[in-house]
Amino acid sequence: MPSVTDKLSICLLASEVAPLSKTGGLADVAAALTKHLHAVGHDVRLFTPCYSSVDRALANAQPVAGLTALPLVVGPHTYVFSLLQGRLPASSAPLYLIDCPQLYARASLYTSDPDEHLRFLGFTRAAFAVCQHLAWAPQILHCHDWHAAFAPLFLKSSYGKEPLFAGTRTLLTIHNIGYQGIFSAAHVADLGLGKDVSMLQQDDLAAGQINALRHGILYADAITTVSPTHALEIMTDEYGMGMQDSLRARREVLSGILNGVDYDEWDPRHDRYLLQHFDPNHLKVKAALKRVFMKRLELGVRGDPPLAGIVSRLAAQKGIELMYEALPKVLETRDFAFVALGSGEAQYEEFFTTLAQRFPGRVFFRRGYDDEFAHWIEATCDLFLMPSRYEPCGLNQMYSLRYGTIPVVRRTGGLADSVEHYNRDTGTGTGVVFNDFDAPALEWALNTALDLYADPVHRARLRANGMQRDFSWARQGALYEALYARLIAA
Ligand code: ADP
Ligand code: GLC
Repeated sequence: MPSVTDKLSICLLASEVAPLSKTGGLADVAAALTKHLHAVGHDVRLFTPCYSSVDRALANAQPVAGLTALPLVVGPHTYVFSLLQGRLPASSAPLYLIDCPQLYARASLYTSDPDEHLRFLGFTRAAFAVCQHLAWAPQILHCHDWHAAFAPLFLKSSYGKEPLFAGTRTLLTIHNIGYQGIFSAAHVADLGLGKDVSMLQQDDLAAGQINALRHGILYADAITTVSPTHALEIMTDEYGMGMQDSLRARREVLSGILNGVDYDEWDPRHDRYLLQHFDPNHLKVKAALKRVFMKRLELGVRGDPPLAGIVSRLAAQKGIELMYEALPKVLETRDFAFVALGSGEAQYEEFFTTLAQRFPGRVFFRRGYDDEFAHWIEATCDLFLMPSRYEPCGLNQMYSLRYGTIPVVRRTGGLADSVEHYNRDTGTGTGVVFNDFDAPALEWALNTALDLYADPVHRARLRANGMQRDFSWARQGALYEALYARLIAA
């Protein structure tokens, strides 16, 4: 039986990889998990699409002799692809970029084009084809989110009959159950399943749909999501997003592993974007950086008010609508400034734009995606808000803890597992945690956080507690290694 110390061959399939292609935390996790697995000696290879925005030079990606201009057959469609092999930036882990301009030369990573399902079926098929060409037999095929979720079914239907893949076990990690890769059953031929079309989930088909994520849930040897609490949540009607029955049926193989943090990227001791660095004993530097940042944003020109912030995809998941009522109310009654960074749905962007107009010198909104600005928010804010409706894990609250920035979060998913509500009597806890998904609850949380911040003893305690927390990949990655070993042994 393999143990965690054996060298394993692991193939990771992810639709985004930081810093090459990123819309959210999946990119950070795919990169950091690969980096960890490589560092501890496994033969891990990370596959991802070569979108036109990917900086190939950054990954030192080169064509591989014999693996250029290959046919990529996706059901009745035939594309042409090449493999570019490189290294994950900030690591030397092998990175395999699937270069297929017909599928990936688009204005954004994800699209609502009619061939969106084909773009990721093509990615999945290409990954199998590359393994075949290289005669590389992964023991573990670790698929992330819906984009790679057909791989377990493909393995059980066709590739699994090949000796190369006879020992391959599959793991599906659900990062975001809100995105399922649903397409019309009219495109069933695109799956190229032949007679194995009977393996498709029949109820969805009868309803005229094919759901990529559901097939990963049905056919993966094991399923994880990115926190223990969320693993329980997604089996409920409230959080399952229609997947709850399929997940309940597979509860024996479903578990939650909290994401780690890549502290090479997110640590105030060496953050590459900061002018000066700090640790728990040098919080004066944090205060000085805050002054620089607020001056730059023309915030808080009078005095030194607490600064609260948010960095987020602006999607329904993130609970921005709770702020509609709560933020103006608290801004009217308390002295603090607020900075937001994000982009996404128009209604949320409009809300922040209007809020900044209504509270000049107190609210700043930067619309867009900006890694440097995100680091500055984490480093300089006193409070960080995450009032999510659901949050499989969430990374920013864990980044906040390391930077001495007090997280104010809703008790759901990974937020519940990584932030502990502060107890004034015992001085334990790392943030402010609220339960109900409504505006009064957020208002209470913000007021509570401002009260705690105003008290030097509680503020110091909260910061010290949070900065000590360790969510490193050395710990979290070991949980994946143990799971891989169990799968191989089974
Ligand atoms: P999700 O994956 O649901 O978006 P996470 O908290 O897991 O949420 O991860 C979000 C990641 O994306 C973090 O690294 C965060 O800093 C980053 N991020 C989100 N929005 C922006 C933005 N507008 N600019 C820069 N980074 C962003
Ligand atoms: C998702 C989730 C987020 C999680 C990230 C990485 O997009 O929304 O909570 O941290 O994936 O796993």
